[in-house]
Amino acid sequence: MEYVEAAGARIPALGFGTWQLEGDACRRLVERALEVGYRHVDTAEAYGNEAEVGAAIQGSGLRRDEVFLTTKIWPDNFAPAKLKHAAADRLHRLGLDRVDLLLLHWPSPDVPLQDTIEALNDVKDMGLTRLIGVSNFTAPMVEAAQTVSRAQLATNQVEYHPFLDQSRLLQWMRAKYLALTAYCPLARGKVVDDPVIKGVADRHGKTPAQVTLRWLIQQPGVIAIPRTSNPARVAENFDVFDFALDDADMTAISGLGTRAGRMVEVEGHSPDWEEA
Ligand SMILES: NC(=O)c1ccc[n+]([C@@H]2O[C@H](COP(=O)([O-])OP(=O)(O)OC[C@H]3O[C@@H](n4cnc5c(N)ncnc54)[C@H](OP(=O)(O)O)[C@@H]3O)[C@@H](O)[C@H]2O)c1
Repeated sequence: MEYVEAAGARIPALGFGTWQLEGDACRRLVERALEVGYRHVDTAEAYGNEAEVGAAIQGSGLRRDEVFLTTKIWPDNFAPAKLKHAAADRLHRLGLDRVDLLLLHWPSPDVPLQDTIEALNDVKDMGLTRLIGVSNFTAPMVEAAQTVSRAQLATNQVEYHPFLDQSRLLQWMRAKYLALTAYCPLARGKVVDDPVIKGVADRHGKTPAQVTLRWLIQQPGVIAIPRTSNPARVAENFDVFDFALDDADMTAISGLGTRAGRMVEVEGHSPDWEEA
C-alpha cells in the first residue's frame, strides 16, 4: 500500500468506493476488498449501505485502526444541531464508535458554511471522527472552509479521472497540504475503451483500469476510490503496486483531460466549477 499524508494522518492512497452497492452484495464486496488488501473504504449517508459496510469491517478480523473509513453527511443535515445528530446516526448505522474521515458531501446553498464547519469541528472534538474534510468544493470554497475551521481539513473529494483536467485544483490543494480524493477514478468504466490508455496498459502488461489507478495514485497528494460490483475486479483494481508509469506514460494520460470532461452534476448542489 502507498499512503498520502494529510492533516497529520497517513491515508491509504487506494480505497474501495461503495456507491450503488447494496445489501448482502455490498457486505460481501467490502469483505472481499479487505481480504485482497484494501485498507480504505468510502461510504456515505446517501448510499444507504453503512450498515453493510460496518458489518464487513467488523467481521474482517482486522483491528479497527487498520481500516481507514470515510463517510459523508448530506447537505440537508448541515444545520449545526442536525449535523451533530447525523454524525451520531452515521456511527449508529455503521455499528462503530468513530470513523476516520467525515466529509460534507456537497456544498449547501442554504446553511452558512461557518456554522456547518464549526459543528463539524465539534463532532471531531467529541471523538466521533479522527479527521474532517469536504467534497465537491471549489478551491475558494475549501479556502473559506479552512479559514473558519479549527482543525486542518484532510481532503476535498472530487471527480477526477483521465478525461477531466483537475490540474488547477490539484496544484492549489497541494500548496495547502490537502489531499485530493479522486471519485469516479475510472470515469465510470469509460477508461477501458480509450486507445491511449489501452496502449500504455499493453506496454505494462496491465489492464486499462490498473493503469488509470496507477496514473492517479502516482500523482503526489492523490487518493483514488474505485468501485466495482464484480468480485474479480475488486482484486484487479488493487493490483497496482508492482509497476510504475514513466514520465511519457503520465504525460500521455494527462493529455486526455479537458475542463469539459466532468460526468457528475447534482442539481441544486453543484458549485460553479470554473472557480477552480
Ligand atoms: N463525493 C461524491 O460526490 C462522490 C460521487 C461519485 C462517487 N463517489 C465515490 O467514488 C466511488 C467511485 O466512483 P464511481 O463509483 O462513480 O465510479 P468509478 O469507480 O469510476 O467506476 C465504477 C464503474 O466502473 C466499472 N469498473 C470498475 N472496475 C473496472 C475494471 N477493472 N474494468 C472495467 N470496468 C470497471 C464498474 O462496473 P462493474 O461494477 O461492473 O465492475 C462501474 O460501472 C463511488 O463508489 C463513491 O464511493 C463520491
